[in-house]
Amino acid sequence: MEVKFTKLERALKADTLVLPFIEGEKEIETDIKLKRVIKPALALKDTKGKKGEVSLFYPDKKDVPKRIFLVGLGKKEELNIEPIRQAYASVAKKLVSMKINTASIVVPEIGNDELSRGERLRPADIAGAVAEGIFLSDYSFDKYVSPEKEEDKYQPLKSITFVGNLPKRVTETVREKLVIADAVKYARDLQNDTADLVCPEYLAQQAKAIAKEHGLKCTVLDKKKIEKLGMGLLLAVNRGSNLEPRFILLEYKGDPKSKDKTAILGKGLTFDSRRYNLKPTKFIETMREDMSGAAVTLGVIKGAARLKLKKNLVGVIPATENMIGSRAYKPGDIYPSMSGKTVEIGSTDAEGRLILADALTYIVQKIKPARIIDFATLTGAMLITFGDVVIGVMTNDDKIYETIYKAGEATYERVWRLPIYDEYRELLKSDIADIKNLGGRPAGSITAAAFLEKFVEETPWLHLDIAGVSWLEKERHYLPKYGTGTGVRLMIEFLKRM
Ligand code: BES
Ligand code: MN
Ligand code: ZN
Repeated sequence: MEVKFTKLERALKADTLVLPFIEGEKEIETDIKLKRVIKPALALKDTKGKKGEVSLFYPDKKDVPKRIFLVGLGKKEELNIEPIRQAYASVAKKLVSMKINTASIVVPEIGNDELSRGERLRPADIAGAVAEGIFLSDYSFDKYVSPEKEEDKYQPLKSITFVGNLPKRVTETVREKLVIADAVKYARDLQNDTADLVCPEYLAQQAKAIAKEHGLKCTVLDKKKIEKLGMGLLLAVNRGSNLEPRFILLEYKGDPKSKDKTAILGKGLTFDSRRYNLKPTKFIETMREDMSGAAVTLGVIKGAARLKLKKNLVGVIPATENMIGSRAYKPGDIYPSMSGKTVEIGSTDAEGRLILADALTYIVQKIKPARIIDFATLTGAMLITFGDVVIGVMTNDDKIYETIYKAGEATYERVWRLPIYDEYRELLKSDIADIKNLGGRPAGSITAAAFLEKFVEETPWLHLDIAGVSWLEKERHYLPKYGTGTGVRLMIEFLKRM
C-alpha cells in the first residue's frame, strides 16, 4: 500500500474524502466549500456521529470530492486512541467492500483541552490510531478461495492519503504504523495457512528469508544437531511426526555497541493433534494456530529490522508437530531435558511447555540474554480465564511487567498478570522423575508457567500465554476472523519503551 500526505486544500480534488464527525456536534470544522456541501447532509440527521458509523454522500459539486464519507468518532468525552482505531477500522472495511482502493482521509484534530479526563492525545497518537485502524483492517486470507469472477476477489487498499497539517513526527508515525501492520499481517498469514504447508522446515525457511532480506544471522538446527544438544523434550514431542523438528535462531543486532540482548521465544508447534490425550473438543480444527508464538516472534524480528529499532534481539523457535503414531510419546513416559532434569509425561497434550523448556535451557546456556520473553499458545485455560480479550502474563520480574502492562494499554493488546506461588509449583511434583509436565486442571495456565519457570534459572523472564487472543472465531474491529497476529504490536511497543 502507498501512503501519502497532503494539506486539506489539495485533498479537495480527491475522488474520495473521509471526514471525521464527532457525535453531538452541529458542524464539522473544515474547509468552507466542504462545510457548504455537508450542511444539508448533517441537517437530515441520518448520521449522528456514533462511533464507527460510516455514511456516504455524493455532493455533485465542483471543487469538492465526488464521494464524501463521514466517520463517526463517538462522543467527545469518550474519545481516545482505541475508539479512533475502531472507527477507522469501519472506514477501511467500508472502502474495501465498495472496492474503493484509493482515498484521502482527514486526520481528526482534537484539542487536548477538549478531552475531559485530562489525558493527552498528541497529534501523532491520533494519526497513528487512524493509520492502525485502517492498515490492520485491510486484511484477508483468501489464497485458497477461487473467486467466481475476478472482481469478487479481495482487493486491498492501494493508496491512502492522510490529510491535514501534519508535521514530520506525524508522518513518521504513520509510516511506522504501516511497517508494524505489515509485520502483523505477516504473522496472521503464518497462523492462517495450513499446517501442511507451515511445517517446521517452512518456519525455518521463513526465518532464513527474513535474514536474507535484512542482513540478519539465521541458524537452523536439524534433528541431528538437536539430538547432539540433548533436547530430549523437543525430540519426545516430535516422535510421532513424520516431519523432523527444527530449532530456529534469528538474530537482529540493532544496537551493536550494546551487550544488552532480548531473547524472544515462540512456540512453533505447527500442528497439535492433542495426542493420546485426545479429548472430545472442537479445538482440534484450529490447531494449526499452535505456532502463533513462532509467528509473533518472526513478525517482531521482521518489524524491528524494518524499523531499524536500536535493540539486540534473538528470535528462538523450537518447531515440531505433535502427532499420533506408534512411535509417539505416551503418558507415563519419562524423558531427559537439555537441562538434565527428567520429565514425567503426565499429558502428551501439554507438549508446548516441553519444547519451550529445552529452548529456555538453550537460551540460558548459550545465548545468555538480559531477558527472555516467550509467546505461546500454551493453555486452553487461558480462554476460560480471559476469553479472547486479554493476554495472561506470568513473570519473575516486576519491572518487565510494568513495561509490558503499559505497552498493552498503548496498543490495546492488553495483558494481565497471574501469580506463580509455591502452592502451584507443588502441583508439578513427580514420584518417578524430577518434574511432571502436568499440574492438573485447576489453575492450568499458572502451572504451565510454573513448569517453564524451572528452566529459566535466574534470567528475567516474561511468559505471555496467547492461547486466547491469537485466534478469533468472529472478526472484531480491526482484528480479522482466525489468526490475529496479536503480540506483534505489543512486543514492538514493549521494545521501544524498554
Ligand atoms: N495448544 C494447546 C493449548 C490451546 C488450546 C491453544 C486451545 C489454543 C486453543 C496446548 O498444547 C494444550 O493442549 N494444552 C493443554 C494443557 C493441559 C493438558 C494441561 C490444555 O490446555 O488442555
Ligand atoms: Mn497440546
Ligand atoms: Zn499445543
